Amino acid sequence: MITRRFAFVLCAAAVVVAGLSVPAAAQDRTVNDGVYTDQQATRGRTAYREQCAACHAADLFGGEMAPGLKGSGFIGGWSGATLWEFADFTNATMPQDAPGRLTARQLNDVIAFILQSNDYPAGEDELAIELASPGDPIRIE
Ligand code: HEC
Repeated sequence: MITRRFAFVLCAAAVVVAGLSVPAAAQDRTVNDGVYTDQQATRGRTAYREQCAACHAADLFGGEMAPGLKGSGFIGGWSGATLWEFADFTNATMPQDAPGRLTARQLNDVIAFILQSNDYPAGEDELAIELASPGDPIRIE
């Protein structure tokens, strides 16, 4: 009995250790890893002004029409989600008067602009989220 119970404890400990090691082992990129380029964000600003600014304001702080897309209140709401989830949500619901109107490239560019506006660093490679598949996660934090 004792032996069996001991084995059970060992097993339980192994499960706990495996569970704890998941966050450490996961090598998800995050929005702090330079996941878009400056040039892409510049393109995104143009698309944002044409398609989003009427409601979310040119400075992204929002207003009566819509919430802000900048600052801790906004980021806090998405913290822990992936950029793919964010892109999927944005594509499905925005622009609110014509959801899904952005091309795949525009969607990535606008997200790059939103990241830049929230002071996340640019990098070497353009953001290239494909809505058809989540791909390797990029965590929002
Ligand atoms: C016609 C007005 C309008 C336009 C244009 C518009 N939005 Fe919105 N947006 C809203 C409103 C209203 C909400 C809040 C209600 C909701 O979440 O559906 C919102 C919410 C959002 C959110 C969620 C905010 C949060 O706190 O999580 C995101 C992201 C967003 N919009 C992105 C965009 C982007 C990107 C564009 C341009 C491609 C855009 N919106 C264009 C009105 C608009």
